[in-house]
Amino acid sequence: MLVCPALLPAWPPALKDLFGREGPLVLEIGFGDGRFTAGLAKEHPDWLVLGAEVSAASVLRAYRRMKREGVENVRLYHGEGPFALRNLVPPGSLHRVIVNFPDPWPKKRHQGRRLLQEAFFRRLSTRLGEGGALLLTTDHEEYFGFALEEAERTGLYRIEVGPPPEAHLKTKYALKWKEAGRAFFHAVFTKVAEDPTPWPPIRRYAVAHALLKGELPETLSLEKTPVPVPGGVAVFLEVARGKEGFYVLTHLEEEDLTQDLLLEVRRSARGVYAGVSRFGSPLITEGVKGAVAALARFLETLGLEVAQDHTGEGLR
Ligand SMILES: C[S@@+](CC[C@H](N)C(=O)[O-])C[C@H]1O[C@@H](n2cnc3c(N)ncnc32)[C@H](O)[C@@H]1O
Repeated sequence: MLVCPALLPAWPPALKDLFGREGPLVLEIGFGDGRFTAGLAKEHPDWLVLGAEVSAASVLRAYRRMKREGVENVRLYHGEGPFALRNLVPPGSLHRVIVNFPDPWPKKRHQGRRLLQEAFFRRLSTRLGEGGALLLTTDHEEYFGFALEEAERTGLYRIEVGPPPEAHLKTKYALKWKEAGRAFFHAVFTKVAEDPTPWPPIRRYAVAHALLKGELPETLSLEKTPVPVPGGVAVFLEVARGKEGFYVLTHLEEEDLTQDLLLEVRRSARGVYAGVSRFGSPLITEGVKGAVAALARFLETLGLEVAQDHTGEGLR
């Protein structure tokens, strides 16, 4: 029922592996408490419904709901919608995408965080099947207009604006905004063409570490240091001293993927090890490798010398 990112399927993913059978695939982004998801899955028992949600509390609530209501054609992914779209959805396979009451990010400086942007619509076109469509329902008129313009700019969609279907007005947020007397906006974005740029799944690696010659430093002054990594940024947030060395709490933002992970700098049989701790089972991505490489470079400034490099950044 839950899709674990550490166990991402081979590419392209087979629906049979995810759902145990084939069928029309539907993705809901930001399912909240999952009441719409459960209703949709029950109304269309032949559909395969994949839900993506960033809030862990909401995922748990929805998970319990699916169990309680005996819904079997739903899979829940805890994380960003675009990550699920990119890594769990076979190209050209989606029948529908549902976005009910997306976070509007009304402040100008936060608009970059909005889900429904031109780049998203372009990438979505690579995963939608022929005639596949995204259905948007919102109470936020300005975001609605923004989403229409962003999709229009791609030239990849036929856009129809109309009243929302009844079921979309029964979500937790729909009921909340209905009570507050708000108006609702609805549009269907049907794919008419596909962006030619492929959107391959995120690349993952087995390891990311470096071995260095020299002594373990007495201290590591790395707190709150941002470092650019391929496709994003890593921030070394905090350093804690352990028995064998240091743990560096690292926040990493890459395209479609945000991870908090522990990096380690510790004594090993062959010198000083700088790499990823297994704690939390992070996905080893280009960004993780970049963060480890930045850590090794920092150690070089303290007089250590890279002897073995498994970060892919050519440190030696
Ligand atoms: C305003 S709530 C709407 C919830 C639900 N659709 C409803 O109508 O009741 C927006 C939801 O989207 C989730 N969310 C925001 N950004 C997301 C993203 N990039 N991927 C997946 N979920 C996201 C939030 O955690 C929140 O649960």
